[in-house]
Amino acid sequence: MDQPRQTARSGDGDAATTHVMPQTVDITLFQEDKEDILPKHHATNTSMSPTATNENGSSANGARAKLDEKAAPYQGEQPYGMPNDLVIPGIMDIDGTDERLWVPQAPDVSFRPLLLSTSQGYFVNILRVKKSGILSRHQHTGPVHAFTLKGKWHYLEHDWWATEGGYSMEPPGETHTLEVPEGVDEMVTLFHVTGAYVYVDPYGKAEKVEDVFSKLKMAREHYEKVGLGAGFVDQFIR
Ligand SMILES: [Fe+2]
Repeated sequence: MDQPRQTARSGDGDAATTHVMPQTVDITLFQEDKEDILPKHHATNTSMSPTATNENGSSANGARAKLDEKAAPYQGEQPYGMPNDLVIPGIMDIDGTDERLWVPQAPDVSFRPLLLSTSQGYFVNILRVKKSGILSRHQHTGPVHAFTLKGKWHYLEHDWWATEGGYSMEPPGETHTLEVPEGVDEMVTLFHVTGAYVYVDPYGKAEKVEDVFSKLKMAREHYEKVGLGAGFVDQFIR
């Protein structure tokens, strides 16, 4: 597998480590930063940097005294090795999203990766389901945080419903069966998933496992197939 590549631009004096992805994908935007592999220090905004100080720590020319410290951005360096931040605008504009970003998972089921944390063993993605019925029965090895963006869903084992605009947490260890009810044409939910899904039969026998690495593999294969290139997914890896 290719090394994850840093897509943020460093050294331009602005929010140099923030990568902003457009909703309409411009492929060339992701082909310009191939040489950057290792994390770099955040760039310091030199226009706001204090000037040299003398042995007493006071400013040589008084420039520091003029700095409005309350409104000043942090003047130091960020720790070496720190991963880049990640910013993706417009994620709630489901219909306006470039269709190529949706990775097919099963018939009428797809996901859009937002963050694939290979170093921490979790992933954040938007799940889009365009059918009703039973989706899966699974156990979680880690906690799940869910924010329902559209439609509603529930687990057969509970009497609560995840509804549009709502938040829910699924505890590690639990096994449950996800259903999208009749009458819901489209369910869209942002899931923050730590650990793995273990898909099981009604008695708990494991049948399949899914985690950040299987998500990454699926996304790489899909993005290669639709012409974005397997490396397109690298921008989501932290
Ligand atoms: Fe679940």
